[in-house]
Amino acid sequence: MRRIDIVALGLIAVTALFMGIQLVGSIGDKTRNVYPIALDNFATFDHKLSDFIAAGVVDQEGAKDVVFTRAKHLYMRAEQWQWYPDIEISAESDYILHIATRDIQHSFHLESRTTGEMIDVLIQPHKEYQILLNNLKPGVYAIGCTEYCGIEHNKMRGKLIVRE
Ligand code: CUA
Repeated sequence: MRRIDIVALGLIAVTALFMGIQLVGSIGDKTRNVYPIALDNFATFDHKLSDFIAAGVVDQEGAKDVVFTRAKHLYMRAEQWQWYPDIEISAESDYILHIATRDIQHSFHLESRTTGEMIDVLIQPHKEYQILLNNLKPGVYAIGCTEYCGIEHNKMRGKLIVRE
């Protein structure tokens, strides 16, 4: 085989692999409905987050606030390096989880070890992400970050607790 053919085949293979990854990524996003909207002013989002926390029952686990709420709209901030706050809800209704960040790109990764349910959403600055949470099974969902966001990226954790 001529050298030029090998190079061409290599390029085709890399392109196919990349497209395959993109396809899997887009299917992954469709496991839940995600609606990103433009966010001109992060302070507006932060005020809604404060109102959400004030309307709930706040407990503390270590240094982290855990908000128990009956609200349908949940608010969470992504930042270096945490998801704030942890949220506790009941399984009986549907929710819209609003997430935004003021610093850099993160990826919201929520996973239940008991049910295998999984959500992965890229969180970019200047946008507010509204993630529909429906039919969540009771359990503790670990929240992690799957986009490198700095030295303590691996410590960026949060929790969603779904009660019966
Ligand atoms: Cu946030 Cu990695």
